[in-house]
Amino acid sequence: MEVVIAPAEELAVLAADTIEALLRRKPDGVIGLATGSSPLQVYDELARRHAEHGLSFAHARGFMLDEYVGLPAGHPERYRNVIERDIASRVGWAAELVQGPDGLADDVPAACAAYEAAIAAAGGVDVQILGIGTDGHIAFNEPGSSLASRTRIKTLTKQTREDNARFFDGDVDAVPVHCLTQGLGTIMAARHLVLLATGTQKAEAVHQLVEGPISAMWPASIMQMHPHATVLVDDAAAGRLQLAGYYRQTYASKAAWQSL
Ligand code: F6R
Repeated sequence: MEVVIAPAEELAVLAADTIEALLRRKPDGVIGLATGSSPLQVYDELARRHAEHGLSFAHARGFMLDEYVGLPAGHPERYRNVIERDIASRVGWAAELVQGPDGLADDVPAACAAYEAAIAAAGGVDVQILGIGTDGHIAFNEPGSSLASRTRIKTLTKQTREDNARFFDGDVDAVPVHCLTQGLGTIMAARHLVLLATGTQKAEAVHQLVEGPISAMWPASIMQMHPHATVLVDDAAAGRLQLAGYYRQTYASKAAWQSL
């Protein structure tokens, strides 16, 4: 696992560099998409590169991490609409090339199985962008999630619903109780994991992810088992890392030929 501690703008550039490198070597590369605040600067940077340098998403495929259950198709906070707004529409990404779990499905297990099959049929995810919840979730794999889980329905914790109430005019009761989410096993099958975290509210979750024991209590800690995981954090989110000095020294002395 590589930990990079840098200002948020630099982290966004590094993540965008990783996606750009993928699309230059593999135009039909598969990108895993997170919603929420953490990837927004990455999406801004990709939109800029699309507008100014013609970075093309014409053949790329996108798979979202998760979706709320029950939000109507036109709801602005439905994750499919959020992804359309935050990234897809800004980079000319055709709607049929970006998929998410179907939060309105009548047959939830079938929809989850179909989503797993779609990811597999696309050849798997090349670069997975991730955020982390204050309770250590990635996607919506809340504490207690099976470390081998696949796409399924989950119940959001009170903490996560409170954290996300800011997207629902501060009304925690408006935040859905259930979601469909890629499992930890699904995420671990992606070839490169790139997690972004900023702010002191993420510091404990980042510490547990990087330095804690691998445990379902801190679901992101499963990333310690991934052969290619990158954790991009600002000073505040790095605030509880015991080996922060070592991570800084390692990154500063990295060979020029090494990418993330
Ligand atoms: C969203 C997702 C979540 C968020 C996490 C952090 O698709 O998978 O795991 O990444 O809740 O959210 P923000 O970035 O809003 O702090």
